[in-house]
Amino acid sequence: MTWVRVAGNNDLSPGTFRQVKAGGQLICLARVADGRLFALSDECTHEQALLSEGELEGNEIECPLHYSRFELETGRATGLPATEAACTFEVRIVDGAVEIALP
Ligand code: FES
Repeated sequence: MTWVRVAGNNDLSPGTFRQVKAGGQLICLARVADGRLFALSDECTHEQALLSEGELEGNEIECPLHYSRFELETGRATGLPATEAACTFEVRIVDGAVEIALP
């Protein structure tokens, strides 16, 4: 496993999210209202939409194309049409930077 710096810890306010790149992968990095950070693959498991262009709804992110929802903590699809979970990544904060664990 390799830790990759993707953002500063102060770059994301609670309730915001954005796309970051790590190891050639597109990742959606989100900070929920209570301050926790989550990272999951930015590609919807249904078709070719970017989750970072969707909406953050509590602890879930909603796909902009057909509105499937994914639980940020587990990647589990909680709303059709997607049924396959999104890949999630461990996140940590080191020296004021957000790092994501790549396998
Ligand atoms: S592309 Fe995301 S739900 Fe269809």
